[in-house]
Amino acid sequence: MLNDDSDGISIRERLQTESSGGVFANKDLVRSDTIIDEDRIVGRNDQLGRVVDNLKPVLQNEGLPDMLLSGPSGTGKSLIIHAVCKQIVELCESQGKTFGVLSINCEGPKTADRAVYRLVKAAANDLDVDPGVPQTGVSTDQKLERLYELMRAYYDGVIFILDEIDMLEGPYQEAEYNSLIYQLSRARKLADFGGPISLTTITNYADFMKNLNSRAQSSYNPDDIFFDDYDATQLRHILKYRRDAFKSGSLSEDVIPLVAAFGSQTHGDARKAIDLLRWAGELAERRGADTVTEDDVREAQEKYTENRKLRHISGTSTQKKLSIYAVAATAHYATDHPEWIPAGPAFKTYQFIAETMDVDQYSRETFVNHVTEQSTYGVLDFERRGKGRGRGVHMYFSLSEDPETIMETIREDSRFADLAHEDATITAVVRERLKNFRTDN
Ligand SMILES: Nc1ncnc2c1ncn2[C@@H]1O[C@H](COP(=O)(O)OP(=O)(O)OP(=O)(O)O)[C@@H](O)[C@H]1O
Ligand SMILES: [Mg+2]
Repeated sequence: MLNDDSDGISIRERLQTESSGGVFANKDLVRSDTIIDEDRIVGRNDQLGRVVDNLKPVLQNEGLPDMLLSGPSGTGKSLIIHAVCKQIVELCESQGKTFGVLSINCEGPKTADRAVYRLVKAAANDLDVDPGVPQTGVSTDQKLERLYELMRAYYDGVIFILDEIDMLEGPYQEAEYNSLIYQLSRARKLADFGGPISLTTITNYADFMKNLNSRAQSSYNPDDIFFDDYDATQLRHILKYRRDAFKSGSLSEDVIPLVAAFGSQTHGDARKAIDLLRWAGELAERRGADTVTEDDVREAQEKYTENRKLRHISGTSTQKKLSIYAVAATAHYATDHPEWIPAGPAFKTYQFIAETMDVDQYSRETFVNHVTEQSTYGVLDFERRGKGRGRGVHMYFSLSEDPETIMETIREDSRFADLAHEDATITAVVRERLKNFRTDN
């Protein structure tokens, strides 16, 4: 029973009443992680069409091709594949068939074995049955066999979706995605499964296929579908379809075009454009206004650019943070604070820190990829330089923010906090490596 002055309004009603003066009607629509209805998907007709054509045969119980969806962040790769799969699941259901969408993100599992286990779990969750195999103590083949057993027992068709496949590097010389792709692409032959199967991988790297070893390459021939950056017009359409996030009349006319223009200037990333629109709304609310104006957008964009680099670092994966940390530490602890940091010593610092933190060590190539990727976000620059007269060419990094500020930002993540006590050891490692590098080169 509510107390006397509650006026009979329940807590739920209070929670659901829009606070007065606000600009939002349904803020979820401008959160980039909200799963949106398909009728809000715009500007991806080609890619959508190809994914649909590729998956359509399942409705006739015909074979499915494999796919590779590649392209920069926020270009709709995950959105499109899941939107199409959702419809297929429903259409199959209406035909009395069960289509299994077994999707994992490869940033989590460190090995192909773990990834297979996650697929078993994905199927078990979807079907509401027991995984039937333990995570450890049985071979990958036994896990695969369990996966196939679940498929045979319950599904009429299956799509494996391996999102962020390039992250499945693993601890060995040869990246683990090779064996995962090789094994799953052979499921058609080995699973003794009557229905169609598609192996669909997703990555930010346009030339991911080149990284695969010959075994994986020869068994995996996906239809390669590229998702390019959105231009201002496409972003404007995407945002228009989210207009109802705001109360009617609370968006001044120029707001969406301006957000779209800012969005396309950076990376044509829909996720960022949506965030920018939300921030503009939040700024308007904070000043107690009931309309979002162009000025709110400009202010949101300014704030965004100001600490965009650091914010980007905070939001990135553990391995990427670790790679950036190693570069910053190499610059910071060096006796002469060099502007250009050679990749070799920075990689040694990376290995040392990874060991200290007891996390996986990735290959030098991945380390360099993780670092150079930061240039897209303005965190740093990189350059290959020769020393002249036939000496080696080396990769160098130059940070655009103060190295110590970068390190502090990363240490806000609790997994990195302890590195603050490793000053002395990291300094010793850095100076030793730089000295060796300089005498060798
Ligand atoms: N064509 C589109 N129409 C409407 N909204 C879109 C569109 N493309 C992207 N979005 C919005 O942007 C968000 C990010 O898109 P998505 O998750 O598909 O990106 P991605 O290409 O998988 O990026 P990443 O490589 O970073 O995972 C989506 O949740 C969605 O809200
Ligand atoms: Mg994605």
